[in-house]
Amino acid sequence: ARPVSMVTADGERLEFPCAPGQSVLEAAAAAGAALPASCRQGTCGSCHASVTGGAFDHGPCSPMALPPERREQGEVLLCRTYPQGPLSVALPYESSRILYGGIPRREAVITALETVARETVRLELQLEPDEEAGSGCQFEPGQFMELEVPGTDAKRAYSLANTGNWEGRLEFFIRLRPGGLFSTYLQERARPGERLTAHGPQGAFGLRETGLRPRWFVAGGTGLAPLLSMVRHMAEWQEPQPARLLFGVNEEADVFGLAELDAVAAELPGFRYEVCVWRPGPSWQGQAGTPADRVAELLAATAEKPDIYVCGPPPMVDAVAQAALTAGVPEERVIRERYLPT
Ligand code: FES
Repeated sequence: ARPVSMVTADGERLEFPCAPGQSVLEAAAAAGAALPASCRQGTCGSCHASVTGGAFDHGPCSPMALPPERREQGEVLLCRTYPQGPLSVALPYESSRILYGGIPRREAVITALETVARETVRLELQLEPDEEAGSGCQFEPGQFMELEVPGTDAKRAYSLANTGNWEGRLEFFIRLRPGGLFSTYLQERARPGERLTAHGPQGAFGLRETGLRPRWFVAGGTGLAPLLSMVRHMAEWQEPQPARLLFGVNEEADVFGLAELDAVAAELPGFRYEVCVWRPGPSWQGQAGTPADRVAELLAATAEKPDIYVCGPPPMVDAVAQAALTAGVPEERVIRERYLPT
């Protein structure tokens, strides 16, 4: 076995052996530490980390999950990383994101299911009380749950849009994909009262503590969900950083969540949001264009170098990141979550 040594962003060290043919992600789980991950097959990017020393093989992965230039900078996907000798890894998140008792499994009941925009539904679940976790559900804004597709052994990951609560309430905004397993279930069978199994909360995407630096949130489509959770969290805790949210959609028919964003704006001083419609109709009064164009325009008009949280389809995330880097925002201030269809 090859020794693996990992350090979290807050300096906690984990050491465990990795057997030949075992990925670092699998070896960590075997040692009792479930690291943030979702697809476990190199397509989602949620297990990314940096190798700081040692030799390894990297299995095939989607360039959307790990762009080649990040590979060159030492970034890896831990579900695809096979050590060839002692390996040192830096994890980009704090130790609180590692699930030492494994990934919690909770039973839930659908309490609401409604269409909120074209091909987009809002799903609300109520968790059943659990012996260990009690009746509540605590999670960090930005995290996701994996929902089992009833009648199969498949799971699909969806970001939580609400904030941690003692009532066990979970809210999701889900884009329906033609032929998608969970999408088909939602369209054909899901009804209030139906039961689901949820695994989580999981994931490393989340707010960073960087003092009073302004926070910009940039969403593409249902990538709004985890960012809504973040700004709701800021409103609940009356966090003082100036916050701005850009919500990009293809067409006006794709817009949702405005009542939720208005509610945040009413409670959080210094918060404002705008919707960017890529292909607006003749009656659209708001911003036209992509969120990346708007980010470039806003950054050109200010000396601010904010933290930018961006979530949505990979091309949109990459375009926003590129616009921010071009405007001089340091790489580590662009905090990304890519949504990839399974
Ligand atoms: Fe490794 Fe998805 S869990 S890329």
